[in-house]
Amino acid sequence: MRPYLLSGLACAACLAAGALLAQEAPRLTGPEPFTRETPAPPMQRQVTDDVRRMRNYPDQPPLIPHAIEGYALDLNANKCLSCHARKFTEQSQAPMISVTHYQDRDGNTLGGVSPRRYSCLACHVPQTGAKPLVPNTFVDMDALVEREPRRR
Ligand code: HEC
Ligand code: HEC
Repeated sequence: MRPYLLSGLACAACLAAGALLAQEAPRLTGPEPFTRETPAPPMQRQVTDDVRRMRNYPDQPPLIPHAIEGYALDLNANKCLSCHARKFTEQSQAPMISVTHYQDRDGNTLGGVSPRRYSCLACHVPQTGAKPLVPNTFVDMDALVEREPRRR
């Protein structure tokens, strides 16, 4: 009898935990119950105004301000590099990928784009007009410095 009692107790505990999770779950989790089918939300329009966005901190990968739909990025072709690689920037007038894109993880500068920087979209993303799912309280460093009284 004992094992049954124990498993019964364990299940009660996990149900309680499940209820707690459901309560605190953000909207990211989808419909309730999860088996209910709901229409997919409409795709958000991408920001493609060609205006380069200010970075939130110096090492931020800059956001992509132009359309990238249909750009091939696979083993054989990298559309991004056809404009952003050093040798094509004169024709394309695109900003050149910076020197870090030519460095391996040990800091050696290579002759070509480093394999770890080949998959551009792992770091650079376009923006859409979508409302954020969670609030963002990020404060830019310059704004932070202005807000704080100067210490001596
Ligand atoms: C046809 C040429 C072209 C292609 C292809 C292209 N870009 Fe661009 N990219 C530009 C130009 C030109 C700019 C400068 C801003 C503008 O005109 O949109 C730019 C700007 C950017 C910026 C902003 C840089 C900054 O300092 O703010 C990023 C990031 C970027 N591109 C990434 C990409 C990625 C990733 C791809 C591939 C998915 C790509 N680009 C494909 C031409 C191109
Ligand atoms: C591992 C992350 C990562 C990958 C992958 C990556 N980048 Fe970047 N990129 C960055 C970061 C971080 C910066 C800003 C700091 C710097 O310049 O190194 C940057 C800067 C840039 C800039 C602006 C350069 C400047 O001097 O203003 C362009 C353009 C760019 N990347 C394009 C690309 C393209 C095109 C690819 C794909 C071939 C790519 N990046 C792949 C992280 C990445």
